[in-house]
Amino acid sequence: MPDQLLIGGSWRNGSTDERISVLDPATGEELTTVASGSPEDATAAVDAAAKAQIGWAQTAPRERGEILRNCWQIMLEHQDELGELITAEHGKPMADAKGEIAYAAEFFRWNSEEAVRLRGTIGNAPGGANKIIVHHPPVGVVVMVTPWNFPAAMITRKVAPALAAGNAVVVKPAKETPLTALRVAELLEEAGVPPGVVNVVPTQNAGPWFEAATEHTATRMVSFTGSTEVGRVLLRRCADRVLKVAMELGGNAPFIVFNDADLDAAVEGAMVAKMRHSAETCTAANRFLVEAGVADDFTQRLGKVMSAVEIGPGGKAGVGCGPMINAAAVESIHGLVNAAVSEGATLVTGGEAMDGPGFFYPPTVLADVTPTAAINQEEIFGPVAPVVPFTDTDDMIRIANNTEMGLAAYVYTADIGRGLAVSERLESGMVGLNRGAMSDPAAPFGGMKQSGLGREGASEGILEFCETQYIATQW
Ligand code: SIN
Repeated sequence: MPDQLLIGGSWRNGSTDERISVLDPATGEELTTVASGSPEDATAAVDAAAKAQIGWAQTAPRERGEILRNCWQIMLEHQDELGELITAEHGKPMADAKGEIAYAAEFFRWNSEEAVRLRGTIGNAPGGANKIIVHHPPVGVVVMVTPWNFPAAMITRKVAPALAAGNAVVVKPAKETPLTALRVAELLEEAGVPPGVVNVVPTQNAGPWFEAATEHTATRMVSFTGSTEVGRVLLRRCADRVLKVAMELGGNAPFIVFNDADLDAAVEGAMVAKMRHSAETCTAANRFLVEAGVADDFTQRLGKVMSAVEIGPGGKAGVGCGPMINAAAVESIHGLVNAAVSEGATLVTGGEAMDGPGFFYPPTVLADVTPTAAINQEEIFGPVAPVVPFTDTDDMIRIANNTEMGLAAYVYTADIGRGLAVSERLESGMVGLNRGAMSDPAAPFGGMKQSGLGREGASEGILEFCETQYIATQW
């Protein structure tokens, strides 16, 4: 199991003796340690990426595509092993972890196909004499900062399109989940990715690491997935060097249920939207806006299903909700629940802090939550479903949009015309219409407002990692 830094195709210790302690969130105990990269290591990784990128960009798109397809295949061949690694360091149930590997691998297959379809255009200037040629070269070296909630997929969603376009990358995985990142990097090398094209440098000291990586003149772009709060800090830093950026930031997804919805389907969809990956997703349903005629029925049904979810270590058969990532996460979730209850919300199920070991929180449903309660304004990132009844559609849309976030939203109704009309009015980059899951490598993932800049996946994904060059000519 790799526990060092991958720089320029070599596994090495950091330039200091510092190591990152990786915990098992189901017990709170240390699983192992990995090398922690220093600012000097970040600089060395950008150096290595800059050298490797020249040759990689000159490789035929078909050859890049075939290497990416090998990456898809090798990840699937190691699906069980990688899934177990994710469950060990993140804690999510094994089925989610293995599902994440299939999802993560698919970004390579999708982008192996995109690599050979990157198009430009030729047009006539309006005056008739000149030609306008437009094409899309790679940006160069991309620094990627990725989160702990999807230790594999949030890396491959960036790395695959970046490589397809001819870039080289330096990845800083989250310090909570570096093991999956390092093992995936090892497999990518085995699949034929040339040395230096993918560099992985976990660190304990994200600030100085990022300063060094973005100070390097070869760095041309930063791609980040994480909280809006951290995204703002990174954007300020990127502004100093006018770096290209792609940001996938926080969410506050409304899950809207109309009176005419199929309630069985709505509850099933709600469970997926709320609980997949232990409820630690930025697309997670954060607020349930339910039309008054079905609010009680929906709430009781959801409460029943939520209370039946087995909580425990992700590796145990039957577990539907693993531990949260750390003690601070549990404390923050419990604080939001307590505040909602003290503001008048009713606990339908859950809501009690759990004894250790490990960082567990019970699936919780809250009824009669006010739209302005803190729990409806902040990203919960945990297994809590606050239900807000509504009577008027315009009011509900105002409440749904009354947030700085705009990543995901869900709408359940039997009237598809109304569903589409409501979807169009939601200030949200992605809408699940009668669907509780929307993530798909073939679809553009991303948010409006402060939920992000740019899109990942689909055909948009590869273009994020490209420049646009225009050549003026005539013949
Ligand atoms: C995320 O939570 O950041 C990603 C969710 C997904 O890709 O499904």
